[in-house]
Amino acid sequence: MKKNREVAVKVDNLVKRYKELVAIDHLSLEIYEGEIFGLLGPNGSGKSTLINSILSLLKYDQGEVEIFGQKMKPTAYGLKQQIGLVPQEPTVYEELTVYGNIDYFCGLYIKDKAERQALVEEAIEFAGLNDFIKFNPSKLSGGLLRRLNLACGIAHKPKLIFLDEPTVAVDPQSRNRILEGVKDLRAQGSTIVYTTHYMEEVEILCDRLSILDKGSVLVTGTSAEIISMSALDENIELEIYGMPNHILQELNDNSDISHMDYQDGRLIIKTKQGGIGLLGILHLLEENDLTPISVSSKKPTLNDVFLEITGKELKDNV
Ligand SMILES: Nc1ncnc2c1ncn2[C@@H]1O[C@H](COP(=O)(O)OP(=O)(O)O)[C@@H](O)[C@H]1O
Ligand SMILES: [Mg+2]
Repeated sequence: MKKNREVAVKVDNLVKRYKELVAIDHLSLEIYEGEIFGLLGPNGSGKSTLINSILSLLKYDQGEVEIFGQKMKPTAYGLKQQIGLVPQEPTVYEELTVYGNIDYFCGLYIKDKAERQALVEEAIEFAGLNDFIKFNPSKLSGGLLRRLNLACGIAHKPKLIFLDEPTVAVDPQSRNRILEGVKDLRAQGSTIVYTTHYMEEVEILCDRLSILDKGSVLVTGTSAEIISMSALDENIELEIYGMPNHILQELNDNSDISHMDYQDGRLIIKTKQGGIGLLGILHLLEENDLTPISVSSKKPTLNDVFLEITGKELKDNV
């Protein structure tokens, strides 16, 4: 990743309270231009409150927000022109069709009719809504409604896009469409802030992320950086017969290996990250003319890291 990248969003020491509840707790972060930045945290960790505070849709108690180097405030209309929000709850007009809704939201920013028509048509294509343009929102499935919500938020081609849990409760087809769409938006040069409590999405989608809990950032980085920062082990399992004792001893003496067990042809090893690793073990076996029948390795996930830091799971129970 390039160094010294332009900062798209800078949050400095933000505090937002709902009465006694501190929803955002002295939170700071920087999001770079052109990246997909993930806000990963369980329900109630403050993701939506943070987005709505960044966009001055909520009044916060303390802190500063800058977008593209300018102070963000409710009257920063020039900045708002360049921003798109796809809110967590689909926000569309029942009395308008799919086409009418996208046209309405796009029309808030783009007054020229011909220009707008081209953008609306592009957004319809983008969200895969061609077959539904005359439908009213109540006739759409949950997944299609989310795609309409997405189309409404991005039709005016904003430079900075906030997507708040866009894939919750959608079918796999719509989910894939949304995830591919987000990558396309980045390819077109937009900066994207993406909230979710699904770590799998963050791992495949986001260039960098912050893990949030109770209104605070626990850790920020690429998912590989975050996983390697943790002290969690990689679990390696091999099916291999006739392991000589001196090799077992050599493995046992290796300071990277925290646990080892060999029984009935099953060799189980827990190794520190960045240590000998699976490749090192396979290399050692090969040097000794030993060939495993099967090999599997399980590296820690963001969910494991979250569990390690907070003692609870990221996932909800739905
Ligand atoms: N309008 C509100 N009034 C009072 N408490 C709220 C309100 N909105 C959110 N909260 C509380 O603030 C915390 C953060 O909520 P939210 O930002 O919605 O989290 P997330 O989007 O990560 O699920 C939660 O404890 C939630 O119950
Ligand atoms: Mg939320």
